[in-house]
Amino acid sequence: MSNHVNIVEVGPRDGLQNEKQTIDVATKVALIEQLADAGLKTVEAGAFVSPKWVPQMAASDDVLATIKRAPGVSYPVLTPNMRGYEGARAGKVDTVAVFGAASESFSKKNINASIAESLERFKPVIEAAKTDGVRVRGYVSCVLGCPYEGKVPLDNVMRVSKALFEMGCYEISLGDTIGVGAAGEARAMIRAVASEVPVTALSGHFHDTYGQALTNIFAALEEGVRTFDSSVSGLGGCPYAPGASGNVATEDVIYMLERSGFDTGADLNALIRTSVWVSEKLGRHPASKVTNAKTAATIQKM
Ligand code: HMG
Ligand code: MG
Repeated sequence: MSNHVNIVEVGPRDGLQNEKQTIDVATKVALIEQLADAGLKTVEAGAFVSPKWVPQMAASDDVLATIKRAPGVSYPVLTPNMRGYEGARAGKVDTVAVFGAASESFSKKNINASIAESLERFKPVIEAAKTDGVRVRGYVSCVLGCPYEGKVPLDNVMRVSKALFEMGCYEISLGDTIGVGAAGEARAMIRAVASEVPVTALSGHFHDTYGQALTNIFAALEEGVRTFDSSVSGLGGCPYAPGASGNVATEDVIYMLERSGFDTGADLNALIRTSVWVSEKLGRHPASKVTNAKTAATIQKM
């Protein structure tokens, strides 16, 4: 089994979408460019969603128009419907993401659709993307718990993942949106989904609210998952998942992987510099333990 692990950096999207303060386009662009320069091959760059629902992502078109694209790097964006897809196409992306959920209540709160309605909405997006040669990633939220419903049956996670994969998504990102799951549950969930979707097409998307994300990733690695979503400096949260903290910090994931014999191609020191830089911009401390450990002197000055 491969020792290479793909990192999908979601900081500029999942990380920033929850920020209350307005973040200017120049800062978003600088963040995305630094992350690509640090060797990350996939940097989620924004979301073509309603600005009434998520104001912070409103300038995603400007962001795509401004970033300097590094060769071999993909800059996916979220596209909940055809309107979003058309915006993304105008921004010349090679990958988009549709996002569904394993919980009915979360689906309704996040995208104003039942699970079944959401899958119907994704169909034309996936069809258009096929025609255009654009890859589509499929997110499934609430795979280990829902902020409104609590426990989520594994059957739901399996059903939605399978549906998205069969519709044509090349990868299914399994989101512990509120970061409640622990390793045993993560392992069981991956095993269950891998009985319907090839494990090589799965990605783990763990938020770190309860400090379980790294062990969840390790459990998923042991099950054969080789792609993980993470966010520099542990930025993030979902506006429709109250109380959820950020994604697991990219620096912490890279540190754990590299010291466990996996290769990511990322430059940890460069990521730490970006983590400190973006934290200063946002007026907060980095949520990454690795960054805090390596830059204790800097942190004391903040
Ligand atoms: P709706 O209200 O049902 O849609 O929202 P609508 O078609 O009735 O349109 C309502 C308004 O939105 C209209 O404008 C549309 O033009 C506009 P108005 O006439 O009121 O001025 N609109 C759009 N504007 C820009 N771009 C679009 C778009 N579509 C409609 N694409 C909708 C449905 C899906 C649009 C809305 O619910 C929405 O935007 N939701 C997005 C929520 C979101 O972005 N959540 C965060 C991302 S998901 C996440 O973080 C989880 C993840 O990280 C994984 C995990 O952790 O689990 C991925
Ligand atoms: Mg998320």
